[in-house]
This record gives sequence, structure tokens and C-alpha cells, in this order.
Amino acid sequence: MRRGVILAFVVGVVLAVVAAVPLGGAANPTATPTRRASASPQASPVALMGDVEAGKKLSAQCTICHSVNGGVGIGPTWKGLFGSDVELANGTTVKADEAYLTESIKDPAAQVVKGFAAGTMPLYGTVLSDQQIADLVAYIKTL
Ligand code: HEC
Repeated sequence: MRRGVILAFVVGVVLAVVAAVPLGGAANPTATPTRRASASPQASPVALMGDVEAGKKLSAQCTICHSVNGGVGIGPTWKGLFGSDVELANGTTVKADEAYLTESIKDPAAQVVKGFAAGTMPLYGTVLSDQQIADLVAYIKTL
């Protein structure tokens, strides 16, 4: 009787170990796709290197509204914009870093600059590629 219990226990342990081995083995193949997936954010827009000259050329379609010399037009000037604190229409202030500039170009209505009308600037998120937007950001950073 007692032996039967011990035997059942041993068999149970052996079965548990046998069952755990294939599971452990299956964990490795899943680890590979996970590693691959974590590599793709490196190719995200944030990681794109912008080309200043290309951005300057692209900006021809923007400078009807944006000056590069400090003058206020239909939109705010780009002079000294990068790294500055931008006052928004909702009363908050945001640091004009790369992420802010990128969003301001893709979706200008997301964060509207104080004193300017929302909806004036076209949404460029679908018009320009992520690379082109990175080029524009790189150019704006030089001003
Ligand atoms: C029809 C006029 C117009 C055009 C064209 C335009 N913008 Fe704008 N832009 C605005 C206005 C108005 C604002 C301020 C309101 C807002 O934040 O949406 C603005 C805001 C911005 C901001 C945020 C500025 C700040 O001071 O924080 C950036 C960056 C910007 N635009 C980039 C661009 C780029 C790049 C292009 C061209 C691809 C472009 N804009 C084309 C009108 C324009």
C-alpha cells in the first residue's frame, strides 16, 4: 500500500519532467521571433537619419507659411525652433525635440501652437514618407 503510493509519486515526477522537457525546447523557437520583432523598432522613423540638403529642398512647400528668419507668417517661424519651449494652445509647454517636430509635421492638429489656428497646416503624415519627414526635421534643426 505504502509502496504503491511512493511508486505513483515517482511515476508522477518522471512524467512531469518528461512533459517539461519538450516545453522547454519549444521555448527556444519562440525566443527567436521575439528577438527579430524587437529589432524592427530600430528601423522606426525615430531612428531615420535625416538629410539636411534634402530637407531644405522639401521645405519649399512649407515656407509659404513658415519663415526661416524669425518672421511670423501663417505659421510660426522655424528659426530657433529646435530645442526651444513651445507654448501650446491648450496652455501647456512642450520641448521642441525631434519627436515633437516629427509629430507636428505628420499631425499638426495633435499639438497646436498657441496663437495659431488648428487645421491651417495640412497633415503631411500620408503625403511625405518617414524619410522625407526626417529630412525636414534635420533641416529645421539647423535653423
Ligand atoms: C498652409 C500653411 C502651412 C503649411 C503649408 C505648412 N505649415 Fe506647418 N504650421 C502651420 C501652422 C498654422 C502651424 C501652427 C499651428 C499648429 O501647430 O498646427 C504650423 C506648425 C508647424 C510646426 C510646429 C511649429 C512650432 O513652432 O512648434 C512645424 C514643425 C511645422 N508646422 C512644419 C511644417 C512643415 C515641415 C511643412 C511642410 C512639409 C509645413 N509645416 C507646412 C501652417 C503651415
